[in-house]
Amino acid sequence: MARKKIIAGNWKMNMTPSQAVALVNELKPLVATEEADVVFCVPAIDIIPAMEAAKGSNIVIGAENMYFEEKGAYTGEIAPEMLTDAGVKYVIIGHSERREYFGESDEDVNKKVLKAFEHGITPIICCGETLAQREQGVTMDFVRMQIKIAFQNVTADQAKTAVIAYEPIWAIGTGKTATTEQAQEVCAGIRACIAEIYDEATAEAIRIQYGGSVNPATAPELFAQPDIDGGLVGGASLKADFGKIVNWK
Ligand code: PGA
Repeated sequence: MARKKIIAGNWKMNMTPSQAVALVNELKPLVATEEADVVFCVPAIDIIPAMEAAKGSNIVIGAENMYFEEKGAYTGEIAPEMLTDAGVKYVIIGHSERREYFGESDEDVNKKVLKAFEHGITPIICCGETLAQREQGVTMDFVRMQIKIAFQNVTADQAKTAVIAYEPIWAIGTGKTATTEQAQEVCAGIRACIAEIYDEATAEAIRIQYGGSVNPATAPELFAQPDIDGGLVGGASLKADFGKIVNWK
């Protein structure tokens, strides 16, 4: 069965609650499509107003982060149940900015992935190499390590429903999209890694996005690749461009 594309916006630390409502209202008609799942991953404080504004549309609201404990003395963190109670279905886990600025390790990512599945939230699991690693020729080794640790103790049935976002760090927010060949090569490598950990059926089912300066010009070729099942979009998800990316065909 063909995998349905999934195109997710990552708002990062942008948009106040009232700006979030305005943006959802502006984008609602532009991102209407049956062909892809459309997710807006928004700051925690924007989740409820964005969800209200998105009612009746095809937009699904996701979160940008989640903690791996149930609740308690973790000042400033968001519990899984807070997300599910608000109706959240997707959460970005292990974005490179969280890894770099907030010290998230592969082990943290794994704990968060397990916790998300426990609560029925689909994780969008991020991986990707630095420019130095690409130049040293260790891209696939590094990404395979990230994937293998992220999926520790995740069952095949859970893995089948997961989303992986391959985001080369050097392409994020830089306007430097990876070439279609580079993106396809690594996404195929990730799928092969999933087949090794689980089996072919799991590898065939899992959805793998490309992320890193996706824009309306680069999306069509990227999304036409056999192993690229959509995109995780930062900058371009905050404007009308996102509508063009979602309707890339
Ligand atoms: P970008 O961000 O599209 O602005 O490069 C992508 C991401 O960080 O998810």
